[in-house]
Amino acid sequence: MAPGGFQLLWLLPVLLRVHSQCGETAKPLCCQKTRLYVLCRDCDLSVFPRGLDPSVQLIDASHNFITNLTVSDTSDLTQLVHVDLSSNRLQLISERALVHLVHLHSFILASNNLNQNYLSNGKALLSLWHLGTLDLSANKLESDMAASYLRSLPSLQQLDLSRNHITRLSVGFFRGVPRLREINLEYNYIVEIEEGTFALLRELHVLNLAMNSLLCLSTFSLTQLWVLNLSHNALQFFVAGGKLDEAYQLQTLDLSYNQLAFLPLLPRRSSIRQLNLSHNAIACLAGNSTTAEEFTLKSHKQVRPSVSWSVSGTARSLRDLDLSSNQLGSFPLRLLRGLSSLHTLRLASNCLQDGLVELTRDCRLLHPMPPPSRSGAMHRITLPSLKRVYLQGNAIHYLPPRFFDLLPNLEVMDLSFNRLHLCRSSSAYKEEPCLAGRKNCTAFNHMRHLRHLSLRGNNLSVLPSNLFHQTALTSLDVSENRGLFMLEGTLEGLESSLEKLSLRGNQMGSSEVTLPCLKGLKIVDLSDNKLSNLPPSLACSSLEKLDIRKNCFLRLEEVTARDLAGSLQYLVLTGNPFNCCELQWLEIMEASSVTILDLDKALCFYRGIYKNLTALVTAKDTLYPCLHSTHNANLSMLVVALFCFLLLTFVLYFSLKALRFIRNRVAPVPSPSCKTKGQDDIAVL
Ligand SMILES: *[C@@H]1O[C@H](CO)[C@@H](O)[C@H](O)[C@H]1NC(C)=O
Ligand SMILES: *[C@@H]1O[C@H](CO)[C@@H](O)[C@H](O)[C@H]1NC(C)=O
Ligand SMILES: *[C@@H]1O[C@H](CO)[C@@H](O)[C@H](O)[C@H]1NC(C)=O
Ligand SMILES: *[C@@H]1O[C@H](CO)[C@@H](O)[C@H](O)[C@H]1NC(C)=O
Ligand SMILES: *[C@@H]1O[C@H](CO)[C@@H](O)[C@H](O)[C@H]1NC(C)=O
Ligand SMILES: *[C@@H]1O[C@H](CO)[C@@H](O)[C@H](O)[C@H]1NC(C)=O
Ligand SMILES: *[C@@H]1O[C@H](CO)[C@@H](O)[C@H](O)[C@H]1NC(C)=O
Repeated sequence: MAPGGFQLLWLLPVLLRVHSQCGETAKPLCCQKTRLYVLCRDCDLSVFPRGLDPSVQLIDASHNFITNLTVSDTSDLTQLVHVDLSSNRLQLISERALVHLVHLHSFILASNNLNQNYLSNGKALLSLWHLGTLDLSANKLESDMAASYLRSLPSLQQLDLSRNHITRLSVGFFRGVPRLREINLEYNYIVEIEEGTFALLRELHVLNLAMNSLLCLSTFSLTQLWVLNLSHNALQFFVAGGKLDEAYQLQTLDLSYNQLAFLPLLPRRSSIRQLNLSHNAIACLAGNSTTAEEFTLKSHKQVRPSVSWSVSGTARSLRDLDLSSNQLGSFPLRLLRGLSSLHTLRLASNCLQDGLVELTRDCRLLHPMPPPSRSGAMHRITLPSLKRVYLQGNAIHYLPPRFFDLLPNLEVMDLSFNRLHLCRSSSAYKEEPCLAGRKNCTAFNHMRHLRHLSLRGNNLSVLPSNLFHQTALTSLDVSENRGLFMLEGTLEGLESSLEKLSLRGNQMGSSEVTLPCLKGLKIVDLSDNKLSNLPPSLACSSLEKLDIRKNCFLRLEEVTARDLAGSLQYLVLTGNPFNCCELQWLEIMEASSVTILDLDKALCFYRGIYKNLTALVTAKDTLYPCLHSTHNANLSMLVVALFCFLLLTFVLYFSLKALRFIRNRVAPVPSPSCKTKGQDDIAVL
């Protein structure tokens, strides 16, 4: 045992838990030790591990009850490179406790009580000349407390101060840590940052100020930054300041969850790739500028009017633009001009209606040979880089052909929860684009690169035929369109490409689902409909996953079950009125390697003497009386037959109407139907 191991004896009374006598751990043999590593995570330690090999380089003593760190704990451990003391109760690091740790590179002190003794603890850290990473998150540190830990750490590159109580950052705050590259200040209460606070940190690349209370950022001039996260603050505007023409390194700017009413004014010379402006209050993108070259920032009190997001810098590098959850009523397509690297555009949850169609209003723009005017030039704008467009949750009625011409390489489009009208006859669409535009309808044919399309929740009533002609969709979601009807040939053209299809929640009957032979189909969601038969053409596909929950299936045909079982891996089926006495299909499924994900909860129905009863399908064979098998059923049938016979002979004398009534009574065991709510009493078997 290391010298000082006996200290534990006088430590005992102050500990909440009783620790074992032999020293370090209340969980004996909990620590794993090698020559280089000591792993004592969650070992009920109350003091720093003792008696270690002086060559040890890494100690993980996190999740223990260590309160103090003294020089005797560490004096032998001169080779230490990494120490993790997170989630302890550390409150005192004695002044010389770290002097021997000349090689210490990373020191993880998250979730301790370092808001105590911060002045003397700060002094202890002064000896860590080579420290590169310091984690002080979740220590209840206020601004001055945090600063006292940063007085002089000349090699520090990564600093985590998240989840503390910091309210302001002053110019001197980072003076002792000039080499910082990455600062995390998430989850504090920062309301103020003095100008010049970060200016000296010439190597600062990543700054995370998310989840603070910043109201305004007077000027942003950190040309050295690569990533700036300002999400979840209360910013009303963002303006790049200093010399607008200076080159900025910024690549990722997250301004989501703020209160921006206008587009940020970004530095002219930067190469921003990701810009997240979601969850703000942006209602207007363009000012009155008619030049397609510029995004115009509308004037704001503090902002000069008609400053612009110019094509030359930012616009050209932007790859990922997120404008979802704002208040945009229109998105003039011409504003996309110049965004020549744009790959993903997110405009979900805005108030877009037909703003997207701006260009089609003037039909001349749609002619193949537009006059060489300015508007003609606009017509030729295409964005070959744009692959993903998210437009869900708007109020879009239609997308004109022009829209698709603009995006020749579109692969993913989410149009769920809009109010789309689909063109009845999509063949006319391409030939008479102008007409189609006037008809205010949308067709997807000829979108050769489109792979994933969602039309969920659009209140569609009919999917016209040829809708996807000459596309090669691999996934199609038309769920939650109640009462949808598929015309013959709707999915024509997708025979070899379609892999995933969702028709969930459409209240479609068996006759309303007409599928061609989709050879590539693998995943099908038919749940929440009124199907009693599977579409026969599914036999063409090698399905891997099938969802038939909440339908009207009484049984699956044995031949269908055999077809499916060949390839199917997963089946989900609860919420159907399966007939308990016709579960042969289930045996077929179970005999092959199909996994029925909700088998334990699936119910079936059978006819009792007086009422219909339910049982778990897993209880089949044994517990419920099917006609041919059990004594009980024979008995009940006998009673029914006798009763009917008596009734028959009696009533025959009197009326023919009564005869019809009796026929109903002796009809074969009525199968529960979807509409019947008669299957009440659930017999828990
Ligand atoms: C830790 O240091 C504090 C302050 O000096 C002291 O009161 C306490 O007894 C010490 N605890 C241990 C376990 O050494
Ligand atoms: C910014 O911080 C928020 C909150 O922690 C996080 O959700 C988001 O992913 C971060 N943004 C970037 C670009 O990393
Ligand atoms: C904003 O978008 C970026 C990139 O698209 C993403 O990494 C980040 O997580 C988003 N921020 C939030 C808060 O969702
Ligand atoms: C456009 O904005 C500028 C500056 O804000 C203003 O001077 C000009 O009159 C506006 N033009 C139109 C057509 O509104
Ligand atoms: C098409 O939409 C425009 C505006 O949204 C409307 O004025 C026009 O009447 C619509 N045309 C048809 C045929 O519905
Ligand atoms: C859905 O469409 C039908 C006509 O097809 C219309 O009567 C109904 O009002 C629409 N519902 C909604 C919520 O728009
Ligand atoms: C039992 O189910 C059949 C068919 O679903 C139905 O016609 C009949 O009324 C039900 N009987 C009872 C007692 O609920």
